[in-house]
Amino acid sequence: MVLEPDLVALIKTQISLERKTTKKIKDLEDIISNFAAKLFLAEMRFDTEKHAKILQTMLNLMNQYEPDRHSKQFWQVETHEYVDALEIKKILEEHVRVELEMLTLVEGGIKKTDDLALQ
Ligand SMILES: [Fe+2]
Repeated sequence: MVLEPDLVALIKTQISLERKTTKKIKDLEDIISNFAAKLFLAEMRFDTEKHAKILQTMLNLMNQYEPDRHSKQFWQVETHEYVDALEIKKILEEHVRVELEMLTLVEGGIKKTDDLALQ
């Protein structure tokens, strides 16, 4: 992949902004005491950290990407992509299974609580 310098610079700038935002949110979390507000800020921070990680992964992948896919044998490329797809499918299926388990646990917990905020 030909790396466009403007795109790389844009992604790096965005990563830097995401990291600065993460720090600002964390600082705010540390000085407030309201439980719900802290939880909300933590969720925002996790999301911001996730964005920085996604962008960093994107940059890493862009740097590793095969510059000329067609210089490889057809079967090498196709086999590799088929195996990748199978691996991803397996991981996604496992992820869905775990998410369903967690949903069941949360639903069970909600039924047991008398906290009106969760009903
Ligand atoms: Fe973000």
